[in-house]
Amino acid sequence: MQNFNYSIPTKVYFGKGQIKKLSKISQFGTKVLMVYGGGSIKGNGIYDKAAAVLRESGVSFFELSGVDPNPRIETVALGAKLCKEKEIDAVLAIGGGSTIDCAKMIAAAAKYDGDPWDLVLDGSKIKDALPIVTILTLAATGSEMDGFAVISDMDKNDKLDTASELIKPAFSILDPKFTYSVSQKQTAAGTADIMSHVFEVYFTREKDAFLQARMCEAVLKTCIKYGPAAMENPEDYDARANLMWASSLAINGLLSYGSDVQWCVHPMEHELSAFYDITHGVGLAILTPVWMEYVLSEATIDKFVEFGINVWGIDAEREPRQIAEESIDRTRAFFAQLGLPRTLADVGIGEENLSKMADKLDGLFTDTYIPLTGNEVLEIYRRAL
Ligand code: NZQ
Ligand code: ZN
Repeated sequence: MQNFNYSIPTKVYFGKGQIKKLSKISQFGTKVLMVYGGGSIKGNGIYDKAAAVLRESGVSFFELSGVDPNPRIETVALGAKLCKEKEIDAVLAIGGGSTIDCAKMIAAAAKYDGDPWDLVLDGSKIKDALPIVTILTLAATGSEMDGFAVISDMDKNDKLDTASELIKPAFSILDPKFTYSVSQKQTAAGTADIMSHVFEVYFTREKDAFLQARMCEAVLKTCIKYGPAAMENPEDYDARANLMWASSLAINGLLSYGSDVQWCVHPMEHELSAFYDITHGVGLAILTPVWMEYVLSEATIDKFVEFGINVWGIDAEREPRQIAEESIDRTRAFFAQLGLPRTLADVGIGEENLSKMADKLDGLFTDTYIPLTGNEVLEIYRRAL
């Protein structure tokens, strides 16, 4: 097991009625910037609930709405300007990963004098940030409990992730009921995203992180059990609750400490979103089984056998190659069961930009589970067509 520094500073208030804990935002001051997306929080009543708690707590708030899925750098710049002009004390994100990521970078850019894109290119340039509070409305990215943000500059077809300890939320409110209104499509995409966060660390060259591997399997099994359940009955509290906690645990560091590995399916997906603005989890569901097939070899077969037996319950007596291949087939079939698209063609992506996307990743995947050149990434994209 590798060395690690454990640090998960975000306080989590989990469960029904936890919105009342929003009053704790007053510890940071009396002026808050509330950041949200296209308006789902108005339709499902979360906006009204949050606004009421803020008013009761003596906190005044300004609003920045309209954060797009795959949030844009222009919105970050706008929010940072507002924070500076209004002398905002804390940033409150209400939404899914896009809103939270945007709010995180607003909080950082509010304390930075240069171009906010600098902070996306290099997280170490984040030297200070306003306190960040989140109310999660979609179980998927884990942004509610991690130090990452993913921001797009669509003019340049760039979608990049940045990281800093300083953008980890101070506290996050996770009420599973707030996800009842999430559509079937977003529930499916969110489930695929959570699973992908686990795959990115489960498939590691580190062989002795036994505990982390078993915890990864538990999160995967949770998604396999509760993803379809939440789609079938959107108001199944236990399904929503398990998915919500899985979302946070998948990426808050707990599963990767001691077995860290460079991610690769995520950066490959971010290129798809940068060029075609597709839903993150959809892109991951298409690429993941193809990537798995590509990296399956004599060197990796034991890990796929472990995955097949422990996660999918495949008979351990069968031939290792059969178990490994079936584990990938089962993964692909699961995403199909969730109604997710199977191929790039299904989401309107053709050959046209694949070389450009692969070129952007060339030379980056030197420390991934199986290192990949740009040409190999291109091959994976092509096999996903
Ligand atoms: O904008 P609104 O109106 O709120 O609607 C959103 C949006 O259309 C809707 N939604 C959210 N909560 C809802 C709801 N609709 C009804 N009821 C609710 N309770 O869902 C749509 C998608 O929202 P979005 O925030 O884009 O989804 P998600 O949480 O999947 O976030 C995706 C973004 O996060 C990045 C992705 O790349 C993508 O940009 N990621 C962030 C990560 C991180 N910070 O750690 C890691 C991830 O791997 C990922 O890359
Ligand atoms: Zn993701």
